[in-house]
Amino acid sequence: MVMTAVLEFADVTVRRGQATLLDRINWTVEEDERWVILGPNGAGKTTLLQVAAAHIHPTSGVAGILEEVLGTVDVFDLRPRIGLTSAALAERIPRHELVHDVVVSASYGVVGRWREAYDALDHERAADLLVEVGARHLTDRTFGTLSEGERKRVQIARALMTDPELLLLDEPAAGLDLGGREDLVSTLSVLAMDPDSPATVLVSHHVEEIPPGFTHALLLRGGRVVASGLLDHVITESNLSAAFGMPLVLSHADGRWAARRRTRHSAG
Ligand SMILES: Nc1ncnc2c1ncn2[C@@H]1O[C@H](COP(=O)(O)OP(=O)(O)OP(=O)(O)O)[C@@H](O)[C@H]1O
Ligand SMILES: [Mg+2]
Repeated sequence: MVMTAVLEFADVTVRRGQATLLDRINWTVEEDERWVILGPNGAGKTTLLQVAAAHIHPTSGVAGILEEVLGTVDVFDLRPRIGLTSAALAERIPRHELVHDVVVSASYGVVGRWREAYDALDHERAADLLVEVGARHLTDRTFGTLSEGERKRVQIARALMTDPELLLLDEPAAGLDLGGREDLVSTLSVLAMDPDSPATVLVSHHVEEIPPGFTHALLLRGGRVVASGLLDHVITESNLSAAFGMPLVLSHADGRWAARRRTRHSAG
């Protein structure tokens, strides 16, 4: 199988006034990879995802997205090929819209490979995706009546609706309780392990949220890459301590990670 890069960033830099939000990011994502981006508040994670989503352009450097170069291609051709979930997008979903419609409407105005047979197929696909994210029982509810965790699931189904080649999830576990987080991690793990799933990039603050099946990690701090590569090589005590700016103790069991501050009582 020939692998093609879904993202190919070379020295991607984003500046706003005097501030450097991203500083010479070099990053390649292949189509069978599932990446987690970790870093503290203000590290530049959302900014990086916004470049990957073709929502903002680098100030300098080259952002290759789905074999196109950002700045030389119509972003309105590129964006339908990318599924994105974020708090900002969730705010724009009308509260009174039915869950099924929230998902199916992602395809309106989109010209894609399964486009021709339109209606019936669209509705079938939306229903299947709601099953896939464990939200079948919510189909006939309005979006505004859903809990935070239920909304996250519906948003993921919506992001998958256009059959994207790249799936970008900005903090999908934010605001979830422990059970909600664990359910979401399982859903994302199933997606990650499905070879038919698109290349995926998940932004998080917590190693506890890394779903089994994710393959790579990128650690950001102050707009710079602290470490990047295979998950097991990147998620180490020293890399995480550097990214979060405090000494951390890391544990890894049953395919899941956990981290806490190192104290003089910490073992090891
Ligand atoms: N227009 C702007 N001008 C100046 N600074 C900005 C601008 N937009 C964003 N920033 C800053 O860029 C930095 C990176 O922001 P970004 O939203 O990418 O961080 P993040 O890693 O997603 O943080 P969080 O974990 O809190 O979501 C932040 O310090 C933010 O305040
Ligand atoms: Mg953010």
